[in-house]
Amino acid sequence: MLQGPDQASRVIPRHVGIIMDGNGRWARSRFMPRIWGHKRGANSVREVVKAASSSGVQVLSLFAFSDENWGRPVEEVNALMGLFDHYLSHEISELMRQNIKLRVMGNLDRLPVRTKKLLIQGCEELSSCTGMVLNLAVSYGARAEITEAVRNIAQQIREGVIDPEHVDEDLFASHLATAGLPDLDLVIRTSGEQRLSNFMLWQSSYAELHFTKVQWPDFSASDFDKAVHEFSSRQRRFGLVDQVINNLTITTDPGAGEISC
Ligand code: FPP
Repeated sequence: MLQGPDQASRVIPRHVGIIMDGNGRWARSRFMPRIWGHKRGANSVREVVKAASSSGVQVLSLFAFSDENWGRPVEEVNALMGLFDHYLSHEISELMRQNIKLRVMGNLDRLPVRTKKLLIQGCEELSSCTGMVLNLAVSYGARAEITEAVRNIAQQIREGVIDPEHVDEDLFASHLATAGLPDLDLVIRTSGEQRLSNFMLWQSSYAELHFTKVQWPDFSASDFDKAVHEFSSRQRRFGLVDQVINNLTITTDPGAGEISC
């Protein structure tokens, strides 16, 4: 999706990814345990999911738990799993009301049986929804995702299903956990850190990056709108030059006007 300054107010990113960071620091600065920050962070999840869906975003990917997060103290990991369980047990009907579809990516086999079951159940219950896709990255790491895709393709080459000559970017993307979803247009990271931390590395190749000092438990619908507004004012070049970009059709139609180079 390309945009020019004159179209600024009308351009909504199709796919937004959020690295929800700063829960622990938010809690510590209030002399509270880290899990308190995660609990308050779950409120921000509710608010931002609603804001994204009503602003017309097609896919919202949330980095809920990374491969690396398994290394945190066991009490924190258990508390986070409990929070996911609580969210999934209590929010599915609200997501259904908002016509939101659920997807999940990551190594679900590492999750507690109950969390995995609730995630799969949630995806099934919301499978007929036709609105925004809420894509939860849980026990997720982009390098692991890419490695898995390579392993999969290699296996299919060995079985004679794929001709190595036919391995291109589209085929590769179709083996990622995000198969069928558009690439990220915008990545937001809260709490002042400015890195991707192994989040959707392939899918963020051309994404605009928005870093804010706001910590995740304080991140509100209006902060989300601010990020989308800032996205609207940026001109994405996709490696091209202004002259070429100005000659391209400006569109918000999914799939149309998309270029890569
Ligand atoms: C990063 O903050 C945040 C996480 C590792 C967990 C994110 C989880 C939630 C927001 C809870 C609810 C989520 C859902 C989907 C219901 P941090 O702990 O690394 O913060 P710090 O960098 O300040 O220590």
